[in-house]
Amino acid sequence: PVGTKLIGKHVVLTAGPTREALDPVRFISNHSSGKMGYALAEAAAAAGAKVTLISGPVHLACPAGVSRVGVSSAQQMYDAVMSAVQKQCDIFIATAAVADYRPESVADQKIKKNNDEMIVRLTRNPDIVAAVAALPEKPFTVGFAAETNDVLNYAKGKLARKNLDMIVANDVSDLSIGFNSDSNRVSVLWKDGQHDFGKRPKTQLAQDLIDFIADIDGRHLGA
Ligand code: PMT
Repeated sequence: PVGTKLIGKHVVLTAGPTREALDPVRFISNHSSGKMGYALAEAAAAAGAKVTLISGPVHLACPAGVSRVGVSSAQQMYDAVMSAVQKQCDIFIATAAVADYRPESVADQKIKKNNDEMIVRLTRNPDIVAAVAALPEKPFTVGFAAETNDVLNYAKGKLARKNLDMIVANDVSDLSIGFNSDSNRVSVLWKDGQHDFGKRPKTQLAQDLIDFIADIDGRHLGA
């Protein structure tokens, strides 16, 4: 590894979208490409960490030195994360754009267009990052907040409500950053402060964020 800050640490990350099936051929999803989460996994591995990446369906190669678990739905992502954090996990970073809702039932056969209208009932998915933050042996838990308005206020709400140690807020209404772009601009918020990272390539931002998290986590743990 190039860096040494995370030697001996196990970092677990989520990345990409989830897919919530309606029937055997259709699903509800979002525009996450996985670029931000994969760049973070690569940067954590380069800093010396053992890295487990729980990934929704994306078109990216697994970074060298990272062990990847591929999933599709939010429930599968939840199960894979819970199993990955069961042993030792020091840092958990939730970069995935997890679907908040899934269809209440999944049709066994392809749904036919018999009517002019079709109503789909949705039900809430489990909140993965909140479940990790509620573990008795909680890792240093970092969430992302994808917002289109009132970015900092909504991010602060999520930081508190999900009991996170840190949240990375990005404005996904700007198409040159956020979903599927190669760059991002974020504000990192925690209990005692805020740090802004100006627009830069996601690969660079990932290295800067991992550096920052390693430093704050060190202070947090009193190291
Ligand atoms: O993948 P890219 O194309 O590179 O795009 C990157 C990104 C925009 C997806 C990323 O930077 C980002 O913002 N990820 C979080 C997307 C999101 O769903 O945010 P949210 O504000 O809805 O969720 C808040 C936090 O809770 C996130 O850490 C999310 O992973 C987590 N969450 C949400 C719902 C759920 N059921 N379980 C979760 O763990």
